[in-house]
Amino acid sequence: MGVISSLGDAPGNPVIDRNSCTACGACAAICPLEVLTQTATGIAIDNAAMFGCIACGQCMMVCPAHCISVTGRRLHPDDIVDLPMLESRADADQLAALLLARRSIRKFTGDDVPRLVIDQVLAVAATAPMGIPPWEVGVTVFHGRDKVAELARDTADSYRGFLKLFDNAAMKQLSRLFMKKSVWQQFQSFILPLGRILVKGKERGTDYVFYNAPAALMFHSSPYCDSADAIIACTYAMIAAESLGLGTCMIGCSAPVVGRRRDLLKKYGLPEGNSPKIILIMGYHASPHRKAIRRSFQSLNYY
Ligand SMILES: Cc1cc2nc3c(=O)[nH]c(=O)nc-3n(C[C@H](O)[C@H](O)[C@H](O)COP(=O)(O)O)c2cc1C
Repeated sequence: MGVISSLGDAPGNPVIDRNSCTACGACAAICPLEVLTQTATGIAIDNAAMFGCIACGQCMMVCPAHCISVTGRRLHPDDIVDLPMLESRADADQLAALLLARRSIRKFTGDDVPRLVIDQVLAVAATAPMGIPPWEVGVTVFHGRDKVAELARDTADSYRGFLKLFDNAAMKQLSRLFMKKSVWQQFQSFILPLGRILVKGKERGTDYVFYNAPAALMFHSSPYCDSADAIIACTYAMIAAESLGLGTCMIGCSAPVVGRRRDLLKKYGLPEGNSPKIILIMGYHASPHRKAIRRSFQSLNYY
C-alpha cells in the first residue's frame, strides 16, 4: 500500500529492463524511499520499503541506460523530457532582477490576457514541487472580466452571509472565548473590516476583491495534500506571469469564504473534495512602477 492520494493508495510501479541495466546504482542512490537498492546481484525493487514508490521519477531521470520506467500515481515514462540547455536557463542575476521588479498590481489596462499566455503560465506553474507526488492541486481559470467579476460577486455575497453571523457585539464577546488571542485580534482588526469593505464595494459596483482583473487562476487542492502545494504552485505562476510581461496579485480573501460554499465549488467545476486555497489575478499594468522596494524578513538568524 502506497501513500493515499485522490487516485487511491496504489504505489508507483518501477520496472527495470534487466537486459539494458548495468547495475551502476544511480537509481538506488537517488531513490528517496529505498524502494530501489543496490545488491550484489543487481538493483532490487522493494515496493514495501518505507511508503513504497511515490512516483517522483528521480530514478528515470538519472539512469544513464534509460532502462527504468515508472508508471502509476499519474506518472508515465513519456513525462521524462530533455533537460533545458544550461545557456537557456535564467541565471541568478536575471532571476533576482525579475523578482525585484515584481509588484502586486491592482490597476489593470483594458487589455485581455490571451489564452496562449495563460497556458504558458500554467505550464510553468506545473513544474512546482509538491509535498508528495502526484499533484493534488487543480486550477480553475477565470478567463475574461465577466468571469472574474462573477467570482468577485460570489465572494462578496459569501462575506455578507459570514458578517450576518459574526459581525455583532454578542459574537465579538463569545468568539474571544474560543479563539486564540492573536486569531481574535486579526479577526476584529482585519477579517471583519475586510468583509464590510467587500460587501459595501459590491453594493457600490466597485470590485475590491479582484480589482476588475481580466483573468484569475484559482488554485485548489484535494484533502490529500499539504495546503502549501497550492500556494507554491500559485507562486510559480506569479513568477511565470511576471516573466511574460503580466502584472499579478495573489488574492487570499476569496478562497476561505468561497470554500465554504459547496454550491459555488460545484458551479466552478472543482473536483469533489477540493477546496480553494489562493487566487492569482493577472493582467497588464495600468500604472507601472518607477522604483522597486527592498524588504527584509521579520527575523533572520543562523543557528
Ligand atoms: C497569501 C497572500 C494573500 C494575499 N491576499 C491579498 C488580497 O486578498 N487582496 C489584495 O489586494 N492583496 C493580497 N495580497 C497581496 C499583498 O497585499 C502584497 O503581496 C503585499 O502588499 C506586498 O506587496 P508586493 O507583492 O508588491 O511586494 C496577498 C498576498 C499574499 C502573498
